[in-house]
Amino acid sequence: MANNVNTVGKTFAVVTALCLVCSIFVAGAAVALHPVQARAKATDMQKNILEVAGISVDSGSSVADSFKKNIKTQIIDLSTGKPVDLAAEKALGKKACVTGDADSFDFKSAAKNPNCTYEVKAENDVAGIRLRSKYMPVYTSKDSVILPFYGQGLWSTMYGYLAVAPDGNTVKGIIYYDQGETAGLGGEVTNPKWRAKWDGRKVYADDGTMKLKVTKYGKAQDKDFDVDGISGATLTSRGVDNQIKYWLGSDGYQKYLASLKEGSK
Ligand SMILES: Cc1cc2nc3c(=O)[nH]c(=O)nc-3n(C[C@H](O)[C@H](O)[C@H](O)COP(=O)(O)O)c2cc1C
Repeated sequence: MANNVNTVGKTFAVVTALCLVCSIFVAGAAVALHPVQARAKATDMQKNILEVAGISVDSGSSVADSFKKNIKTQIIDLSTGKPVDLAAEKALGKKACVTGDADSFDFKSAAKNPNCTYEVKAENDVAGIRLRSKYMPVYTSKDSVILPFYGQGLWSTMYGYLAVAPDGNTVKGIIYYDQGETAGLGGEVTNPKWRAKWDGRKVYADDGTMKLKVTKYGKAQDKDFDVDGISGATLTSRGVDNQIKYWLGSDGYQKYLASLKEGSK
């Protein structure tokens, strides 16, 4: 009997020690890998921005170097369309929304930060956003302005970038870098053939009305403003249309793009 108790006790001791060693190992690996994951995420973001801007990474150069050479990041206050003064922002101390430099600003976590969050009014929320950051990063290259956007598709929240010419009105490209629509249906948003349908489309009519839209497949008529939807994926196409409507509309980048248009005259 005494021997049995000893055996049970020792078994527990061994199991506990093993659990402790394993949890230290797993926690250590998670901590050690965090910077690697963060770097991979940043590289992926930079790669997508360069791609939608039509800039290829020079051979012998890294994604980070090409990004640094070609892209300037600014933080825009969507309510005014103007760049955020980062020095003034930092002076707000604990009430600041942006605490680091423009490149490290994360609009997803900012949406949950009480200093940054903006609640989208239900009547404006066609893309199912609910809360967004009041500030958004925009990326400028020589030929493009790249706007991050997101919103609901059929199955998923879809994240993308839209590239617009410096006139603030001509679409130069679109890329979705994170979405969970069905491969072969809504997932065709990543197909280069469909993406090419956006090139050269206009966003606003002369009177400033937002006219860019994604139609049902085969229903695109206006060659200036209509992007043909995806066959068999009307619901994802509608989601994309709503995302574009929101982000290029008056609650999104419209004021910022209008200021670009003014400046390019
Ligand atoms: C398993 C499954 C996955 C689907 N995935 C998508 C999708 O990702 N996006 C989408 O718009 N429709 C998807 N659909 C189809 C929609 O239910 C709907 O039929 C379609 O959007 C209608 O498009 P259409 O009018 O072009 O045929 C899926 C259907 C099934 C059965």
